[in-house]
Amino acid sequence: MLNTDKILNISIVGTGYVGLTTGVSLAYLGHRVTCVDTNPDVITRLKEKIPTIYEEGLQELLHTSYDNLEFSTTLKDHVNSSDVIFICVGTPTKDNGDADTKGVEAVAWEIGEYLEKKRERPNGDSASGGTDSIDSTPVVVNKSTVPVGTQERVRSVIEKRLKERNIDVTFYTASVPEFLREGVAILDTLYPDRIVIGTDYKQAEDTLERLYKPLLDQDFKEPDAIKRPPDYSVPAFIKTDPRSAELVKYAANAFLPMKISFINEIANLAEKLGADIDQVAHGIGADSRISASFLGAGVGWGGSCFGKDTRALLYTANEYGEELGLVRQARKTNYAQRLLMVHKLQQALNIIRGKTIAVLGLSFKPGTDDLRDSPAIDIIDKLLELGAFIKAYDPKAMDNFKQEHPELQIDYTQDEYFALEGAHALMLVTDWPQFKELDFDVAKQKMKEFVVVDGRNIFDKEKLESKGFVYRGVGR
Ligand code: UGA
Repeated sequence: MLNTDKILNISIVGTGYVGLTTGVSLAYLGHRVTCVDTNPDVITRLKEKIPTIYEEGLQELLHTSYDNLEFSTTLKDHVNSSDVIFICVGTPTKDNGDADTKGVEAVAWEIGEYLEKKRERPNGDSASGGTDSIDSTPVVVNKSTVPVGTQERVRSVIEKRLKERNIDVTFYTASVPEFLREGVAILDTLYPDRIVIGTDYKQAEDTLERLYKPLLDQDFKEPDAIKRPPDYSVPAFIKTDPRSAELVKYAANAFLPMKISFINEIANLAEKLGADIDQVAHGIGADSRISASFLGAGVGWGGSCFGKDTRALLYTANEYGEELGLVRQARKTNYAQRLLMVHKLQQALNIIRGKTIAVLGLSFKPGTDDLRDSPAIDIIDKLLELGAFIKAYDPKAMDNFKQEHPELQIDYTQDEYFALEGAHALMLVTDWPQFKELDFDVAKQKMKEFVVVDGRNIFDKEKLESKGFVYRGVGR
């Protein structure tokens, strides 16, 4: 797909959502990619072309790009042949809320340990110069979500180790934040809104521009599984300094949940005023300055990023004496929203103790089996505390829930209708498409009492009420 002189050698350390999606997508675009992960099981599976996470299109890309891919448990042999080394390892939350960058620094140390003066660029005529040749100086790119200033730390860790080894070699560093969403990770990678490159080095900028050229020009053949959206043109290409790039990531992951928390606060008010939040969201979302996305009112946000990143941002802000009151309140509103669902149920049922509640949806959003910070966990925990029996169904996340939350006593069922058998109420937590199709005539035959708390506003309120259900949505 790419001319040979445009192909770059890439190493990607960490094959989680970000690493694997990035690796497979860059390989699809024509670059030669080595995905590195210390977990041998992950590497064995990937070598056998078995995706280790579920993402639409991943399987197809893994197969079609296999010749451009290599998988390894060690970075050592790839450091000196890479034009770009991506760090895509996890940055879990520390007890104090800050992001833990131990993993990122460990990779930096390894790079410093193995980087040599003499580099072996397999297809490289780069040393010979030439206007179109590739600068053979490696670029170390951090893609993990890290506190502002981490890129500078990565640089110092590598420099320190090189100095200890008495090696004098040039390398560049850059921060390229990731904006992909779980469930549509390949789509977001191939057709992004923007690519942000934060570096102090012009040469690094050039190498990364070359790396992303097919995305910037959108001149690659779209994969069958992940078509280019019809209204899509090209991404914005934004060059910043490293600290700004790092802050872009946190600011985006604070703004989006703030937007959702805002609409939830307005929804709670709309409910009291007798207004309809769907109509309000439509009315404000049509203003291009506001935009219609992330105005879906409901049970609130979850997932591995918004909660973790807003917390880490507040930690940083606090260290520098900034309040970030809006972000703080967005979190408060969000976690209160989950309990508000239980409160709605309490009001509709009068008493929860001894009642059976059918919980539909466990994952933090549809299209994934990920349970991290899922609203379902808090809701079920509270319902159990109030003495309810829980029957639950989720199309993808039940095995994970069983494993990760053995403390929550749940009766798992084989589909949504089994969950409704003998239930006094239905609590909808995740908006899986199949739940939208629920047949409420059948539901009525199965349920003991007819209460529906719709945590995602997916059901038709009037229709349900006409069938004799007590319906509680959010802001309707
Ligand atoms: C989020 C961001 O959207 C990505 O841009 C970012 O790269 C990613 O975090 C990350 O930092 O890794 P993700 O967590 O996969 O992506 O999920 P989203 O699709 O953004 O949804 C987050 C939560 O918000 C879900 O629980 C969803 O149900 C909820 N949501 C979303 C709403 O409650 N209302 C809405 O209108 C939209």
